[in-house]
Amino acid sequence: MKKGITVIFVVLVIVLGYVAVHAINAPVKLSAAQLGNQLINSNKKGIDCFACHKIGTKGGSVGPNLSKEGLAKHSIKWLEVQIATPSKHFKSGSMAKINGKTYMAIMPDHKMLSKKELFELASYLDSLK
Ligand code: HEC
Repeated sequence: MKKGITVIFVVLVIVLGYVAVHAINAPVKLSAAQLGNQLINSNKKGIDCFACHKIGTKGGSVGPNLSKEGLAKHSIKWLEVQIATPSKHFKSGSMAKINGKTYMAIMPDHKMLSKKELFELASYLDSLK
């Protein structure tokens, strides 16, 4: 009888250990915004945003500061279009007034980015509040 209990106990420990290890190793599913955060901080081709934009303390100031881009309440679609083909919103070379500041509209197209990447970047920017 005592042996039976020991066997059950050992099996239980093994099963629980297995479950615990797998729970820890299970891939964490990142949200689109989190993937966008990883992407914008990567050095993938076409990811040049920080050359002109500041988010937090990182980046330049040729373009508007995007640290609170989510507060602008643009739709995800608007953000995707802005990233892929900014001239659809701001005529190239014109003066664009954004958040009370004026910028020369010189943001380049990012047509090399996939739909998925545009969605992730847009979701990330929308999450910045
Ligand atoms: C060469 C500089 C430059 C680069 C590189 C650049 N931008 Fe811009 N961005 C601008 C300028 C200037 C504007 C102002 C409007 C325009 O030019 O279309 C702007 C506007 C924006 C806006 C609109 C902000 C608003 O609320 O009106 C978003 C969003 C944006 N950029 C995101 C990005 C992202 C994301 C990237 C990288 C994939 C990027 N930009 C790369 C210069 C740049």
